Amino acid sequence: MTKMSGKIWFIEDDNNLRHILSAVMRDEGHEVREFPYAENALKALQEELPEVILTDFQMPGMNGVEFLREVKNIVPQVPVIILTAYGSVELAVESMKSDAYDFLTKPVSNDHLLIVIRNALELSRANAQLNQQSESRKELLSSIIVGDSKQILKVRELVSRIAEQNTTVLLSGETGTGKEVAARAIHSISSRSSKPFIAVNCSAIPENLVESELFGHKKGAFTGAVSDRKGFFLSADCGTIFLDEIGDLPLNAQAKLLRVLEEQVVTPVGTSTEIKIDARVITATNRNLEEMIKNKTFREDLFYRINVFPIHLPSLRERKDDISILATHLMKQKNSDSPEISNAAMQLLLDYDWPGNVRELDNVLERAMVFAEDGIILSEHIEINVRHESAAIGKAFIELPDTGVSLEELEIELIRQALKRTEGNQAHAARLLGITRSALLYRMEKHGLIEK
Ligand SMILES: Nc1ncnc2c1ncn2[C@@H]1O[C@H](COP(=O)(O)OP(=O)(O)OP(=O)(O)O)[C@@H](O)[C@H]1O
Ligand SMILES: [Mg+2]
Repeated sequence: MTKMSGKIWFIEDDNNLRHILSAVMRDEGHEVREFPYAENALKALQEELPEVILTDFQMPGMNGVEFLREVKNIVPQVPVIILTAYGSVELAVESMKSDAYDFLTKPVSNDHLLIVIRNALELSRANAQLNQQSESRKELLSSIIVGDSKQILKVRELVSRIAEQNTTVLLSGETGTGKEVAARAIHSISSRSSKPFIAVNCSAIPENLVESELFGHKKGAFTGAVSDRKGFFLSADCGTIFLDEIGDLPLNAQAKLLRVLEEQVVTPVGTSTEIKIDARVITATNRNLEEMIKNKTFREDLFYRINVFPIHLPSLRERKDDISILATHLMKQKNSDSPEISNAAMQLLLDYDWPGNVRELDNVLERAMVFAEDGIILSEHIEINVRHESAAIGKAFIELPDTGVSLEELEIELIRQALKRTEGNQAHAARLLGITRSALLYRMEKHGLIEK
C-alpha cells in the first residue's frame, strides 16, 4: 500500500492514548495535531482546516457526536472518525445519522486505524477537488451571465442545476434578455464544453431547406444538393445544438424535429439510413408558444417535448439593479480601458424602460463610448429612444444652428405653440413645457403674451 500523508486532527482527553496513537499516525507520515478537548478543536477550525478528524466519543464537556454535528455545520467536506470504548449499536447508528465517516472501538488495532484514516483521506481530497471545481464553475458562470439581482441569481442557479443533465431546455424571454447567452453558458459549464456549440436560427432557414439544414442530405437528394451535407444535428455531435426562434419552425419541420428528439436519430434527406445522434438540445423563443398552440401554429406534442426544463430570462426593467454592473461588463468587453459613467448619465440609464433589454443597453453604451471624451460618459452621450423619455425630447429635435439662435425668441415661440395646442389651457400648456403654471404665467407676463 502506497503511503499517503495527510493533515489529521486527533481529539482525545486520555493523554496516554492520544500520545500513542498520534505516534502511530506520525510514523505513517501524517501530520497530527492533538487536542485534549473538542472545544479547542472547534476554535482552531476557524483558523485552519484538517483533512481528516479523529475524535474520541466520551470526553469531558462536548462529546464526540455533538462535536461531529458542529464540525459538519462548519466544514461538511471533512470526514470525521469517531473513536469509542462504548461500541454500542445505538452510538454507531447515531454517529452515522449525523454523518460520521466511520467509527472505531477501543482498543483499536494500529493497522485498522491507519486503513480507515487513509480511506477517509482519499474521500477528503476528492471532496476538496469537487468543491474547487464547483467554485470555478460558479465563477465562470457569473462571468458569462452577468448580474446580481435575485432574478438573475435564480437563472444562474437553474443553469448550473441543469448543465450536467442532457435534458432539453426551453429558454424564453423578450428580445435581448440573454437567451443565447444562457444557452452558451449551459454548454460552457457542462462536460460537453470542449465539443461544438452549434447555434441555429430557425427563422433564417428557408422553409424548403429546413430539413436538409438540420438533418443533412446526400449529394443529388434534390436540385442544388451538389455535395453531401452533414446537417446541424450531426455537426453538434457530442456537443450542444441551440435551436433559436424555434417558434418560427414550419409545421412540417416541427413534426420531423419531434421524431428526432424522441428517437435520437436523424435520417439525412435522400437516404434511408438512421444515424444515432448525441447532441444536447437547447431551444429558445420570444414568442408565446402556448398561444401558438391554440392557433395551431405550434405542435403541442413538440412543445411538451422541448419544455422539459423551462428557464425564463427576466426583462431588464424587472431587474434595474443589474444595469450598473451590466454597463461595466459590456463596456469592458469592447475596450479594456473603458470610460466611467457620470451620475447623471447613470440616472438616465436607470430611468429608462429598455424595451430592447440588454442588447439595447449594449448599443446605447457602444455609441456613448464613441462620444465620451476624457474617459467619462455624460448624459448628453446617452441616446435613448426618446419617445419613452419626455425629458430628452427637446435635446433630440433641436440642434443649435451654426448661426446661433435667440433663446428668448425660442422661448416665446414654444410658449405660443403650447398655448395654441392646448387652446389656451395654461395648466395643460405648463405641463407640456415641464414647468409650473405660475412659472408659465411669469414668463407670459415677461414676454407680453398675456392678453389684457
Ligand atoms: N446576463 C447577461 N450578461 C452579459 N451579457 C448579456 C446578458 N444578457 C444579455 N447580454 C448581452 O446582450 C446581448 C443580447 O443577448 P442575447 O443575444 O443572448 O439575447 P436574446 O435573448 O437571444 O435576444 P433575441 O431574442 O433578440 O435573439 C448580447 O450582446 C449579450 O452579450
Ligand atoms: Mg437570440
